[in-house]
Amino acid sequence: MCGIVGCILKNDEDVAPILFNCISKLEYRGYDSIGFATYSENRIHIKKDKGKIEEVENKLNLSNMPGKLGIAHVRWATHGDPSKLNSHPHVDERKELAIVHNGIIENYLEIKEELIKEGHVFKSDTDTEVIPHLIEKFMNEGFDLEHALRETIDVIHGAYSIAAISTKEPNKIVATRKDSPLIVGIGENGYYLASDSPAILKYARDIIYPEKGEIVILDENGVVVHDEFDNIVNKEIESINWTPEMAEKEGYDHFMIKEINEQASAVKNTLTQKEHIQEIIDDIEGNIQRICFVACGTSYHASLTGKYLIESLAGIPTDVILASEFKYSANTLNDKTLVIFISQSGETADSLKALDIANQTSKTLGIVNVVGSSITRRAQYVIQTQAGPEIGVAATKTYLAQLTAIYLFSALLAKNEELVNELDKVPDFIDETLENIDFIKGISKRYNYARDFFYLGRGFSYPTALEGALKLKEITYIHGEGYAAGELKHGPLALIDEGIPVVVIVPPGDSYRKTMSNLEEVKSRGANVLAIGSADDDALKEQADDVITINPEIDELIAPLIYVVPLQLIAYFITLEKGHDPDKPKNLAKCVTVE
Ligand code: M6R
Repeated sequence: MCGIVGCILKNDEDVAPILFNCISKLEYRGYDSIGFATYSENRIHIKKDKGKIEEVENKLNLSNMPGKLGIAHVRWATHGDPSKLNSHPHVDERKELAIVHNGIIENYLEIKEELIKEGHVFKSDTDTEVIPHLIEKFMNEGFDLEHALRETIDVIHGAYSIAAISTKEPNKIVATRKDSPLIVGIGENGYYLASDSPAILKYARDIIYPEKGEIVILDENGVVVHDEFDNIVNKEIESINWTPEMAEKEGYDHFMIKEINEQASAVKNTLTQKEHIQEIIDDIEGNIQRICFVACGTSYHASLTGKYLIESLAGIPTDVILASEFKYSANTLNDKTLVIFISQSGETADSLKALDIANQTSKTLGIVNVVGSSITRRAQYVIQTQAGPEIGVAATKTYLAQLTAIYLFSALLAKNEELVNELDKVPDFIDETLENIDFIKGISKRYNYARDFFYLGRGFSYPTALEGALKLKEITYIHGEGYAAGELKHGPLALIDEGIPVVVIVPPGDSYRKTMSNLEEVKSRGANVLAIGSADDDALKEQADDVITINPEIDELIAPLIYVVPLQLIAYFITLEKGHDPDKPKNLAKCVTVE
């Protein structure tokens, strides 16, 4: 949902090439349009346009702009079409001020109406444009840039991270945030602002995390943070151990395939959290009668696996609630409930809103990948998944890292040593499955014709079916439905026709026989069955049209950690066949910071 960057250099070099490098790393947050504002020689220079970063760079040469300080933005349109006029940075009447914004200003229509009455002229359809006009108004009333920004945030409602520059106070960038991410980087050559750390890893790995309502002032001498009463806040500086290479493609065609290939490491590294997870369990054990997972999208599917695990292994009643629905059902929480928030980004607006509600009554635990993100700062307990930065919009390695944390948590809660030990084998199982990549690529090509897909799984494999369908939908734009295999005959079976692809997830275990019956049901109605199952399952090979085989040692209990890999690959390869970009699916962004 938009990405912002700001930088002021200590030396006199031009900042534009650095801004370009930083903002390119945030393209996963928005790719409708891009814009830069730099300051030099008493004026603000702006270049912006609709289009992906590379297209706009080729057209406007963004990385060639004068000035040692500047701000930049990639946009994921919410209010107003993707267009040059609606692209950021936005400016005031006299172009003495430029701002970039990530978030949504909910009351912008009322503010805009008032400002128009006062004589302000608006050029865009965005909610954001009220911000430079408000700052201008307050600066005209005598406030300096910092305090004009402070006055502005008293007026606007919604979510925002904002960075502003002004010709009236030329050698600084001021910034603030509420409910949208913003980090500050302290580098050798300068000071940085960004929506997410991959943007600045190359330049700065000492990070400050501003809190809601704090105002950050960057100049060439350093960073100062003020609280709402204008007091200087001594912020902790935290070093981030992600490297710049982690946010590069490193020879892969796309981030998605790179990240799929990094899944064994994501699992292995997350397994190192065992002791920390045990400490959390020691702390809460005996005080928990119910567990409730809250998440969105792929993280919701990881949560659903958590329900099956915790209920079957530890016998604790467990619910899973979509974060966007949480506020409609939260009134049964109490202090004996543990609410677990699963999120790759740690910034998902729906999850954050739910976390604030849950914190009032219950114990809260965040399972989050992005270090220093809002959920990690607001949840009472945190498990940091160790997938490293994930750039592809479609979650892959972070899903497996989430599952790993959930498996460890469930197994330790249930004191199931055998499962804890079994998890050590998962990285090898994943790599072994990835050895089949060419075979999976070949099969995927054959299913490229389809307009609809069904994914079936039972028990532990049901969330895997949902996740396979989500991956397909979001990057191939083919309709995919995940179903609990037994549910198909309660309606959707009517849609099964000659040639419809049905992906059946059928690992060995208790659910095997029944899932095989469901497979036969769809097969006998003409479906084209692509099964994922054990390499020594001859019956499956006979029944299904195509089979992707997995190590027979993997039973249904740990299958979610491995069986999802071919499903990710199928979505990836079909996307390539269709000529789409798997890293940047249309209408989607990596981090959803609006409700
Ligand atoms: O950052 P989060 O895990 O909270 O994000 C939740 C969903 O927006 C996310 O999983 C989304 O569904 C992905 N694009 C799926 O690939």
